Amino acid sequence: MRNIIEIRNLTMKFGELIANEDVSFDIEHEHIVSLIGPNGAGKTTLFNCVTGFYKPCSGQVTYYPEEDNKIDITGQPTHKICKLGITRTFQIVKTLSEMTVEQNVMAGAFLHTNRTSEARELARHILEQTGLTQKRDELGRNLTVAERKRVEIARALATNPQVLMLDECMAGLNQTEIKDVMNLILKLKDSGQTLLIVEHIMEAIMPISDKVVVLSSGKKIAEGSPQDIANNDDVIKAYLGEKYHAKSKKS
Ligand SMILES: Nc1ncnc2c1ncn2[C@@H]1O[C@H](COP(=O)(O)OP(=O)(O)O)[C@@H](O)[C@H]1O
Ligand SMILES: [Mg+2]
Repeated sequence: MRNIIEIRNLTMKFGELIANEDVSFDIEHEHIVSLIGPNGAGKTTLFNCVTGFYKPCSGQVTYYPEEDNKIDITGQPTHKICKLGITRTFQIVKTLSEMTVEQNVMAGAFLHTNRTSEARELARHILEQTGLTQKRDELGRNLTVAERKRVEIARALATNPQVLMLDECMAGLNQTEIKDVMNLILKLKDSGQTLLIVEHIMEAIMPISDKVVVLSSGKKIAEGSPQDIANNDDVIKAYLGEKYHAKSKKS
């Protein structure tokens, strides 16, 4: 299994505050890697550093679009990183409220084409894949939270990413909606998509992740299989609490 992204010794500071401190981990090709940790742990900052929204103070992010092609993307502009194949969604959804669902998704497709017909064709394919076809002509502002989050994922997919990064795309959803997103993520993985996901809902993360990376106060405190992480004492202390631990032990 080859790595598609390697994050090495990444540090990001805001003045005195160290949001990411010497963080290193790999994202394996066609795997689901999850990033968890308490609020303020530095998860979104790490997303921002990998996708070029922030320029890290030190460290490297290396991207392997193909096995024998290595690109140092550290601090590259976000549009360039997106064009190379790494796309993210935002924790605070940015659905365009005065545009239809289809137009929102077409906005992503325009990264690779100037032709409206082509963008529409791609958007329709992705709307189908993400279960949004029926909502195609609905305006962004009329959507539920779950639909908005799904449109965010669809728009990101329309940029044709090799690596899709989802920042809390299940927050605020009910059980059924969470299950739907889990199934969509697994379907994407099956079709060859690599994913890095930030999520708080452990019941959703643990069954679908190939690997879990835990951040706390900006530092990586653990990395391993979901089972390892659920039983890791440092992680339980910093984040999971005894409740989840006991529950996962029982099952
Ligand atoms: N643009 C910024 N300017 C200053 N501080 C920031 C900025 N973005 C994040 N931080 C701080 O960095 C820390 C990590 O934040 P964040 O990455 O959003 O955490 P998480 O996504 O894990 O909740 C927090 O203390 C937050 O207040
Ligand atoms: Mg965050």
